[in-house]
Amino acid sequence: MLIAQITDLHLTPGETSSCQNIDRLRRVLKHIKDSPHVIDAILITGDLSEGGHPASYKALKTELTLLGIPYYLAMGNHDNAANLAACFPYVKLADGFLNYSINFPDLRFIILDTTLSGRHGGAFCENRADWLDKELGKESSKPTLIAMHHPPADIGIEWMTTREDSPWAKRFKTIIQQHKNVVHIMCGHIHRSIFLSYAGTTLSVAGAVAPQVSLDFSAIDPNKVDGRALVEDSPPSYTLHHWKSGQLTTHHVDIGAAPLIYYDAAHADVIKRTLDRD
Ligand SMILES: [Fe+2]
Ligand SMILES: [Fe+2]
Repeated sequence: MLIAQITDLHLTPGETSSCQNIDRLRRVLKHIKDSPHVIDAILITGDLSEGGHPASYKALKTELTLLGIPYYLAMGNHDNAANLAACFPYVKLADGFLNYSINFPDLRFIILDTTLSGRHGGAFCENRADWLDKELGKESSKPTLIAMHHPPADIGIEWMTTREDSPWAKRFKTIIQQHKNVVHIMCGHIHRSIFLSYAGTTLSVAGAVAPQVSLDFSAIDPNKVDGRALVEDSPPSYTLHHWKSGQLTTHHVDIGAAPLIYYDAAHADVIKRTLDRD
């Protein structure tokens, strides 16, 4: 099963198609559509919209409908739950949150809402913890992927990160440590491609459709500007998760890389020598 994860689209109403986030999204979706492999599902891990405006969800729906691949949405801190649910009527909010599961024959997705209205960082209250605990316990041997917007771990970029001692992150980690069926946790929010081990499983953050966040581990002072780069001009990207024979393999994809070498007569020998067939 191939799952494309796209994240942090930050669509803004009124954008033109020239070099704006809607254009970046179209480039990502075209890459997915033109792939030589069949993609079974798309997970979109939040910040679909920049300001939660209904027009941005409508634009997203138009693009996804044209693509024709099943897709599943998660909330980000820039999203508006009511406007999102109004545009996608099959999205059902429970107690105002977008938490749900999708079952496939040999894999399950759990989509978690880690937002709290008015808050930039993550949130995961006791109600959501209870829901996740019960959901993971329902089919304790079923391999499960969790998709959520905020990474629940410190990824090192101070102005974007989650502190390890954040109550919400500690609450989430406790639940994950109690279950053995979580094969991977996929997140967004940071606008960078990141991989880490986490609570006995693995976790990745997908690169964004929108421009990426600059990599800088130095301490930041909220009361003193220092001129550092925060966001950089970079190609849109997405992540491809390949579930096969009980293993998940994750590939980062940058949009815009041009082919350099083709499998033609001049390079046929390269393939013969490189194929590792027992
Ligand atoms: Fe974002
Ligand atoms: Fe975000």
